[in-house]
Amino acid sequence: MIKIAPSILSADFGVLAEEIARVEAAGADQIHIDVMDGRFVPNITMGFPILDAIRKRTRLPLDLHLMIVEPEKYLAEFAARGADMLTVHVEACPHLHRTLTSIRELSPRRGAPVKAGAALNPSTPPDMIEYVKDELDLVLVMSVNPGFGGQAFIPAVYPKIRQVRAMLGARAADVSIDGGVKVEHARPLVEHGASILVAGSAVFEAADPAAIIKQMRAAAGA
Ligand code: DX5
Ligand code: ZN
Repeated sequence: MIKIAPSILSADFGVLAEEIARVEAAGADQIHIDVMDGRFVPNITMGFPILDAIRKRTRLPLDLHLMIVEPEKYLAEFAARGADMLTVHVEACPHLHRTLTSIRELSPRRGAPVKAGAALNPSTPPDMIEYVKDELDLVLVMSVNPGFGGQAFIPAVYPKIRQVRAMLGARAADVSIDGGVKVEHARPLVEHGASILVAGSAVFEAADPAAIIKQMRAAAGA
């Protein structure tokens, strides 16, 4: 079963609560939150106060995508404030094994342990996760260079998705795709092994986000 994760980077922050309610009603499975620090990526987005605001508004799992250097400094705080999934970039983590295991050791919120994810930039080979496979709940394959919403999907990631899925084998870990994902990508992405589709502009810039989520799900299941 495919999961759809709208990325609120493309939401209207002036009416964030309404935007969250809209995608929740539209059948979103989780909310993707892009944290950027202006160092790992050339953009600055949101942090703890926005996470708090979203946490108060929804019971959906919150999927935090940390595009920041030294993410280990902030993991406990993100978890305490309600993150359900914490994904760090392998390019930002020299001690990736330690970082991933420390995420899973964070105090569980709402009964469920915090999920640990590793993100790969488009140019990063999947071998980077070879020796941490057992510490992962998800691998996030970037299909744009991280930093901005609304960029074009990079088709060269398709074979990488297949490789990552094969590496993970029968493990319960998800393979999430993030960047430029539109309805037309849903089917090939799932065929290559994706189990979570992150979509920002495709969902929030649509006149009818519910229709887009429905179309993505239908295309993925077709
Ligand atoms: C890019 C972010 C993505 C982005 C997705 O750095 O990680 O989550 O917001 O937005 P779209 O779907 O518009 O590419
Ligand atoms: Zn993201």
